[in-house]
Amino acid sequence: MMSRLRLLLLCPLLMSGGLRDRPCAAAEPARATPTTVEGETPAERGFRLVTTKPYVPADFPEALFNELWTVWPEPLKQQAADVPAAERRRLAFERYGLMERPGSEGSGPPLGYTSDGKGGWAMNCLACHTGSVEGRVVLGAGNSLFNLETLTDDIRLAKQARGLAPRHMEFGRSRMPLGTTRGTTNAVMFGVALWGLRDLELNPRLNLRLPAFVHHDMDAPSFWNVSRKRLLYCEGSAEKGPRPLLQFTLVPQNSGETIKSWEGEFADILAWIESLQPPPYTGAIDSSLATVGKQAFETHCVRCHGPQGPGLKSPEKMIPIAEIGTDPVRLHSLSDDFRQSMHKSWFGEYGKHEYNLEPTGYVAPPLNGIWASAPYFHNGSVPTLWHLLHPEQRPVVWRRSLHGYDHQKLGLEVEAFEELPTAVQRADERREYFDTRKKGKSAAGHLFVNDLTEEEKRAVLEYLKTL
Ligand code: HEC
Ligand code: HEC
Repeated sequence: MMSRLRLLLLCPLLMSGGLRDRPCAAAEPARATPTTVEGETPAERGFRLVTTKPYVPADFPEALFNELWTVWPEPLKQQAADVPAAERRRLAFERYGLMERPGSEGSGPPLGYTSDGKGGWAMNCLACHTGSVEGRVVLGAGNSLFNLETLTDDIRLAKQARGLAPRHMEFGRSRMPLGTTRGTTNAVMFGVALWGLRDLELNPRLNLRLPAFVHHDMDAPSFWNVSRKRLLYCEGSAEKGPRPLLQFTLVPQNSGETIKSWEGEFADILAWIESLQPPPYTGAIDSSLATVGKQAFETHCVRCHGPQGPGLKSPEKMIPIAEIGTDPVRLHSLSDDFRQSMHKSWFGEYGKHEYNLEPTGYVAPPLNGIWASAPYFHNGSVPTLWHLLHPEQRPVVWRRSLHGYDHQKLGLEVEAFEELPTAVQRADERREYFDTRKKGKSAAGHLFVNDLTEEEKRAVLEYLKTL
């Protein structure tokens, strides 16, 4: 058994409850959400659970969220002060990359947060896994607007101004980056932090040696390709199933037994994820050019990505890092110890799951709905498909517009820079710029596209619209 003192010391490291809250053994949040509703399909139930049941404690109270504008930098603060509350809420959603729930009428939590029934908002899967494309919410698209670090910093400032105690997210933030660029998060390292203090049965364990952290930001993949996969994550490190998805719930407030008891609910959440379809392209498609592009795709791309189309299983081909040449940090960020212990634990069904224990590179992902899942590569370093196909033209530093979509280049509407503009000083401003020279953020690699002529590239771009 861990002593209470040690637990208290370790809890903040684990992003657990705040100082004034109870330590790790804190009561689990109230959960009134019914497990089943008559007539629901598993996928419908999964969606209902994911959006209404708080699986982790609230990150902050709604009332505080509504006042965050008071700590914004000028001129944004003055702008917020001058407008009605509904407009202020819109400004806050833009600053943090949050989506309105359909039918919410401008109140209650955004899609990515769930009410805990006590005035608090708890993060849910959709914070990272539902985004917007051309200003429209697309279920299951990676949230390329999410600004978790800016949100958490603002919460900290607002709490400081009101004399309120910090809680788990602010503690976590004081110990690790949460996401240094809008749209990407250090999610993989959150998992490492939470796993570090559990044993193979998910019980709390004393571990005074902090796990090795290799911080890096990731772009959340789109959910609609999960049905085409057998292995999850960019290096295919886990066999698909409900258990690996429960990693997100490893916060200390949840006991191992509670987490295990959610396996059935997460099977439904997985059913929902697997029911998602990519959104059809919204612009014009030149179908004869797309047909030419399909042929070029078959010649140059199918050997790794496999044939594309709804329901077609992905060949999930692992491409060694030296061959793919994209940023290597993610590949080397997980220790052997982490991989082995996950594999041997309840998560890996005690070694029965198929796990890629020694990945050599990244798996070539399925490309359905690729037009709607910018930015590209596992680290989100390339803003458009055109840039992916033209490696020499990839911007060194780029900044996106919030809702623009570039129908010529297929992807985010961006402004490119050679350097981070010198006027950009504040951390929240810096997060609006993707700087490919930073660790883990390289936009290099995947140079196979250079085998195509410019004509073929144009045609492949057209074909990618049809997926
Ligand atoms: C803080 C952001 C964040 C949250 C919250 C989050 N995820 Fe993820 N998720 C990611 C990132 C980033 C990846 C990519 C990780 C990788 O490939 O290494 C990912 C990967 C996945 C994958 C693998 C997809 C694939 O194609 O390989 C699944 C499935 C998934 N998440 C489900 C969930 C579920 C279910 C929840 C909620 C219980 C959740 N995620 C919460 C960021 C998040
Ligand atoms: C030798 C294998 C290989 C070939 C050939 C190849 N790719 Fe890839 N591709 C990959 C891998 C591996 C990744 C993932 C890289 C990463 O995320 O770091 C990838 C990533 C991508 C992505 C980004 C996916 C995303 O969700 O971010 C696109 C788009 C893509 N490839 C298109 C193509 C096209 C088009 C061709 C043919 C012109 C092609 N690829 C040829 C292996 C290959």
